Amino acid sequence: MNLSTDAQIIKTLREVHPAGIAGTDLAGRLGITRGAIWARIDILRSAGFEIEASPHIGYRLISSPDNLIGDDIQARLKNPEGIGKEIHVYRETTSTNEVADRLARGGAGHGTVVMAENQTGGKGRMGRSWESHPSHSLLFSLVLRPEGRPADVARMTLLTACAITKTLRTLTSSPFQIKWPNDIFHSGKKIGGILTELRADMDFIHYAIVGVGLNILQSESDFPDEIRSTASSIKTSSGVTLGRPALASHIFNQIESDLQNYNAHGFSRCLEEMKSYSCTLGKWIELKLGQQIYQGRAESIDESGGLWMRTESGKLQQFNGGEVTTQISME
Ligand code: BTN
Repeated sequence: MNLSTDAQIIKTLREVHPAGIAGTDLAGRLGITRGAIWARIDILRSAGFEIEASPHIGYRLISSPDNLIGDDIQARLKNPEGIGKEIHVYRETTSTNEVADRLARGGAGHGTVVMAENQTGGKGRMGRSWESHPSHSLLFSLVLRPEGRPADVARMTLLTACAITKTLRTLTSSPFQIKWPNDIFHSGKKIGGILTELRADMDFIHYAIVGVGLNILQSESDFPDEIRSTASSIKTSSGVTLGRPALASHIFNQIESDLQNYNAHGFSRCLEEMKSYSCTLGKWIELKLGQQIYQGRAESIDESGGLWMRTESGKLQQFNGGEVTTQISME
């Protein structure tokens, strides 16, 4: 990725913060004229960046907007060729998974991201819809082109869930958890979910679209009646208000680093993390798969991401999907 001029300006202003940088120095670093810098600063200001300009200190970044702006997020990425190397942001779209799928079919590369402030047809797992309050969430879809077999794609979903949970724990110091297979939970309420869709032949993955919906700023009354008692947001559950562009970049950086670790060393580290974040393991659960309902104790998660449950008859059974309701702890 070649950072745009705006992204380079934002990145440089953050690097020199809290000091400022003289217009001549900024122009020199970017290889453009002072006049061009001034024009771009003007445009960044109208996009919501508060940039101070004074003869003594030059330009100084005071604050950034909470709107999703591709240049702002890219300016914070550690690996410019990794997740987020191309970012498409929509004020509103049907579903970021659908847009990402269209882009991937047209050849969009591994790491491309589609984000939206609002979705009119957000999709959830099991054919459900995904509701979101405009500008209160992080809604994004990743185009991934992993090597390996189609059956391994479940690992991409778990890896993403782990990376998000780890990021949230670090940024908020609050105990976010994963409800198997890939819901982000806090204090028994759902904070976010992941919908992975796959284009593959029998033994070859063309690409996977990993769609993430995270509730960031909603208060209880922002949720529709049907989910008000079971859903929450990062702000409500942890008491921490996270800036959405910063959170997005932290998540993309973490997914990129975890993917590199997975490619080099395999899935075991991610699996151990997954187990330590799980609010499902050790619990008596009900698992709904199609019309069937299974009850038992959630015993373990395996290398393929499958859940092993000891059913009432004492039999150990593996599940690769389904809807879990946690009942009571057996510990
Ligand atoms: C779930 O049911 O828990 C999964 C929800 C996934 C929602 C996200 S929002 C961004 C992306 N686009 C979609 O249409 N769905 C996913």
